[in-house]
This record gives sequence, C-alpha cells and structure tokens, in this order.
Amino acid sequence: MYKVLVSDELAAEGIAILRKSVDVDIRTGLDEEELIRIIPEYDALLVRSGTDVTSSVIEAGKKLRFIGRAGAGVDNINMDAATKQGIIVANAPEGNTLAATEHTLAMMLSLCRNIPWADSSMRRGEWKRSPFMGIELNEKTLGIVGLGRIGREVAKRASSFNMRIIGYDPFITTEKAAEMGIESMTLDELFRQADVITVHTPLIKETRHIINATTIATMKDGVRIINCARGGIIDEKALADAAISGKVGGAAIDVFEEEPPKNSPLLNVPGIITTPHLGASTVEAQKNVAISVANQCISVLHGGEASAVVNAPIISPDLKDRISPYADLADKMGHLLVQIIEGKIRQVSVTYSGELASMDRGCKILTRMVLKGLLDPILMSPVNMINAEVVARDRGIGISETLTEDASGYKNLITISVTTESSELSISGSVLYKGGSRIVSIGGYTMDMVPKGYVIISRHLDRPGVIGRASTILGNNNINIAGMQVGRFIPGEEAIMVLNIDNEVSEEIMKEIRAQPGIFSATFAHI
Ligand code: NAD
Ligand code: MLT
Repeated sequence: MYKVLVSDELAAEGIAILRKSVDVDIRTGLDEEELIRIIPEYDALLVRSGTDVTSSVIEAGKKLRFIGRAGAGVDNINMDAATKQGIIVANAPEGNTLAATEHTLAMMLSLCRNIPWADSSMRRGEWKRSPFMGIELNEKTLGIVGLGRIGREVAKRASSFNMRIIGYDPFITTEKAAEMGIESMTLDELFRQADVITVHTPLIKETRHIINATTIATMKDGVRIINCARGGIIDEKALADAAISGKVGGAAIDVFEEEPPKNSPLLNVPGIITTPHLGASTVEAQKNVAISVANQCISVLHGGEASAVVNAPIISPDLKDRISPYADLADKMGHLLVQIIEGKIRQVSVTYSGELASMDRGCKILTRMVLKGLLDPILMSPVNMINAEVVARDRGIGISETLTEDASGYKNLITISVTTESSELSISGSVLYKGGSRIVSIGGYTMDMVPKGYVIISRHLDRPGVIGRASTILGNNNINIAGMQVGRFIPGEEAIMVLNIDNEVSEEIMKEIRAQPGIFSATFAHI
C-alpha cells in the first residue's frame, strides 16, 4: 500500500479519494526538520501553501514519486530539486480562480463602502454614519494589472457594476483584451487613470514592488488599491505611508511579503483592510483543489498520468533522446527572445531546417519548448511542454511552424521569428556536431554566440569609439567582458554588438550605456 503524507489542511473530499487506495497520514504544522525526519517513508506529499518543500525535504524523500499542490502557486516547492529527483509535481491551477476573484470583489466593495470599520463602530455601541461615507463603483475606472485567469474573471464581474475596465498585461494582445471588454494600456497610463487598482500577477522579478512610492505618486489622489495575488507586488512601506498621508484612499490586502506578517507596516493603518491569505478559502475552492490533487496523486502512484503536471513533460524515451539537444536550444532561444523584444507578442513563427525537417512530431514539441522559454518567466503556473501551446493561444498569440530541408549550410537550424505589436525580431540557432549549440543569427546579423550566461545586446552606430565607451562603463563597474561579437550590414551605419559578460548588470549601468552617443538600444539578458 502506498503511503501519502498530507502536510497542510486538505478538504475531506480529497482525503476520502486518497483513503480508497492508499494509506494517508495527515500531519499539519510540521517544521522542516520534522518533515525531513518522516518524509523517507512516503511515496507522495500533498501540500497547500503552508509547507515549504525545500530541496532538503525533497532529497530526504527517497521514495517520493509525486508532490501535489492543492492550489495554483508552486512557489513553496523547490521545482528544480523535484525534477532532478524525477518526482512529478502537479497543482490545481483553476480550482480556486473564482474564490480569489470573488474575494477581490468583496475587498473592493468593502473598501469603497467602509464595511469593516462601520461594523467595528457598531460593535462599540456607536451609530455613526458620516465617518463612513463611501464611493460608488458605478462609472469608476478599474485598473487590472495581470489579465490571467483571475484578472479576467474580476474584469467580467466588475463590468456588471458599470465600471470602465482598463488593463495591463505585457503578454495579452490588445485584441484579446478587447474581446474581454478590457481597454489595454501601458502600466503608467493605467496608474494615471484608475480609481481602483487590483493586481493579479505572479510575484516575479518584473512585478516585485510594481506599486511603490514612485508609481503611487503618479496615481489619482484617493486611489484604492487591492492585492489578492502575492505579497511583494506592492511595497508595503510605501503603501502604508501613502494611506497615512491620504494619497491612497484605502487598500485591501490579502497577501503579505512575510506570511504570517510579523512586522508589516500595513497592519493597523487606518483605511487598510487586511485578511490572512483568504483568497482561496471557500468550501468550493478547497473541495475543487483537494479533489484535483488527490485524483492526480492516485493516478501517478498507480502508473498513470497527472492532468496538471508542472515539471515533467511526458514523451517517449526514444523521441526524448533525439530531440533533447534541440529542446534545450529552443527553450534558451525563447528565453533570450522574450528579454530582447519590445511590445506584446502577436505571432511566433518557427522554421525547422535541415535534419530537423524529418522530425515532424519532434518539431511540435520543440515549438512548445520555444513557447515555454518565451512565456514561463512571466506566468504564475509553470509553462511546460504540455500546456505551452494552450497558454500561448489563450493569450492571443498566433503560432506557426514551417519545416524545410534548406538549412543555409548548417546541419540543422531553428529560426524563431516573433512579431509584437511594435516590432519584429528573428533569431536562429543550431546544434553543432559536437553537441554544443550556438545562436547563429540575431535580427539578420550573423553571430556565433553560446546561449548561456549573461549578455548585453546593443544596436549602435558603426563609428569609432562607440563600443569603447560601452566597454569602459562596464570596466568602471568591475564587470568583466568574456566575449564580444559585432555585426553590420553597411559600414558606418547601424551595427549590432553582443557582449558575453561574467556578472549581472544593474538597470542603472544599462541606463548609462544607453545614454552614450551612438547607442540606439542596449538590453541585458540572462540565458
Ligand atoms: P495566471 O498565471 O493565470 O495570470 C497571471 C497573469 O499575469 C498572466 O496573464 C501574465 O501574462 C501576467 N503578467 C506576468 N508578468 C506581468 C507583468 N510584469 N505585468 C503585468 N502582468 C503580468 O495566474 P492567476 O491564476 O490569475 O493568479 C494570479 C495571482 O493570484 C497569482 O499571484 C496567484 O498566486 C494568486 N492567487 C492568490 C490566491 C489567494 O489566496 N489570495 C488564490 C489564487 C491565486
Ligand atoms: C494559490 O496559489 O493557490 C493561493 O495562494 C491559495 C493557496 O495558497 O491556497
């Protein structure tokens, strides 16, 4: 009999499914040390957000074959460690979407009508009305940052209050947003126009402190701000200060930078509603996510598949061997492209040439790896070979594949052309005979670039001194240049430079490079 450990609270419906065919132990509130001590006896571990599944826990789980997350975010599971150990990790990404959506609306209404504070006043025996004068949602502008599963459900419901809905999501096309009744715009514009702002993005480098003292200063006076997504998207200190000064008319916060929050400046600020990460806490959502992970757990333990795998692609061992060097290159090319293109992606076209032209099914998987590279860094639930195409199409991104034998002299060639709302860029890569891979062209310029590590890609005027000025700035900041390539079509006109460097480069340094005469653009990327 397989043994399953449930280390966070899981709805009874999920437990009942498990108990039909496996031994279940429910042990909540374990610390890392206790978990490491007991995990070796279990074949599967089911968690919510309360358990940190660290690499040490995973390493100790010698028998573990499955880790299930009853919810969407897998930020509490060390995915690399699980994948390395061959453990399937699956989540329940949709089961709590509506619960989080409804919590956001509850927060918005409570905030605009002062419900928590009016209730507290009544409980003190008072009958006061003037301190609790509210505002109506009718004809107000709601700014939604992140138009994924929850953002778009919030939009649907808020429009029934006759709100104007504006949105920002760098990965949803303007047309797709318009289909959802959302006016798409830049984040700066959204901040300037919204009466109420709600965030629904994952917490990633690009979204950390997206709401901060500087961006708050650009917002309307009295703006209301809601975070039912992840702590850290809003700078808590900046929000607390702005609520105290009156710049922000109120905020409703379900998630915190540290949970439970010990010293959050948001606690006890008048005008800020706080809830203890309750977004997914409905009977229905907990039942949905528990049933989903329990079924996936049983299926995997008995040799079947999981429907929402977040780390393990399922392909035959034979095909896997043939495509794996290309899969890695395709993933890296996608990952590089997303960092250097400008604007929202409308179309991804991939051409497979040379020996790849005979691998039809293999190329379909490679296209998914390209999409994974492009989209995974920006979405909450991991994008993988299984879901990449669906995720892209859902964002209004067109995908096309061409197979051709002519590989321009290479043994094999992958060319990815991305069209965005404002630009177009193609890059090509090839796997060499020795097994290594190279990016062989960027934007039509020939290259011989190892797709690994830190790079700066610039477009500049082909004149003496331009490259030297950029290199001096890096040198002054103690950043070593490991390799450099330049390409141009016509001497004296626009040229491209790719610098391989040994360290990360800060945005301040990149700004200094961009400000040099003769530099048209410069982008830092990490492959
Ligand atoms: P999702 O992956 O479906 O959507 C996230 C969206 O954010 C995507 O459309 C993506 O394109 C967009 N995005 C990525 N980077 C962005 C950026 N820089 N600016 C603007 N948009 C960006 O995720 P979801 O299921 O809608 O979940 C949204 C958030 O809500 C997640 O953080 C999730 O963990 C959280 N969540 C919280 C609760 C809760 O209990 N409070 C419950 C469920 C989900
Ligand atoms: C999620 O990621 O699903 C939510 O934050 C809810 C939860 O942690 O249960």
